Amino acid sequence: MDAGKLEIRSAEPDDFGALQVLHAQPKVVYGTMQVPFTSREVWRKRCIERPENMRVLVACVQGGVVGCAAVTIPLAIRRRHVGELGLVVHDAWHRRGIGAALLGSLLDLADQWLNLTRLELTVYTDNAPAIALYEKHGFVREGKFDRYAFRNGEYVDVFAMARFR
Ligand SMILES: CC(C)(COP(=O)(O)OP(=O)(O)OC[C@H]1O[C@@H](n2cnc3c(N)ncnc32)[C@H](O)[C@@H]1OP(=O)(O)O)[C@@H](O)C(=O)NCCC(=O)NCCS
Repeated sequence: MDAGKLEIRSAEPDDFGALQVLHAQPKVVYGTMQVPFTSREVWRKRCIERPENMRVLVACVQGGVVGCAAVTIPLAIRRRHVGELGLVVHDAWHRRGIGAALLGSLLDLADQWLNLTRLELTVYTDNAPAIALYEKHGFVREGKFDRYAFRNGEYVDVFAMARFR
């Protein structure tokens, strides 16, 4: 991906339609906690009611949203050094550097501006692309949760991963 063609910016309320389409992609649903057939209205509300402790970035190519990354700071006052991460790239745009670019921007925000020292996430144990991407950016596996979520008819396990600064 030509870096000049990729724009990373804050998500805006008007992005809700694009975010619904992005999060309905089969591989995105499979790799996350998204539920198929989530309505535009649910996404519209998510986008306009976004809390202050959640920051959402989108990656755009020629104005179209092709990926999204988010960091949420827990409300518990003694976990203000923590960020919980999420990351998705549209199925048609995988393996073109967009996930790495989004994660890089999110890590810069977390390190240089939000002063977060522990970034954490969960990832399905069979999600090799995501695990490779996170390990490349300094995340380590902390443990495994068995039968953590239900996915397409079966229970699946996740790794807990974290990156410390
Ligand atoms: C995981 C995901 C975000 C990666 O995004 P991407 O834009 O395809 O990733 P990039 O092209 O930036 O790749 C960055 C690195 O990730 C790793 N990676 C990405 N896809 C990979 C694959 N299919 N196999 C192995 N490693 C892979 C590689 O280390 C790669 O670096 P390299 O290209 O120099 O080898 C994307 O596959 C996705 O959105 N999946 C569905 C949703 C999901 O699972 N999100 C993660 C939830 S925890």
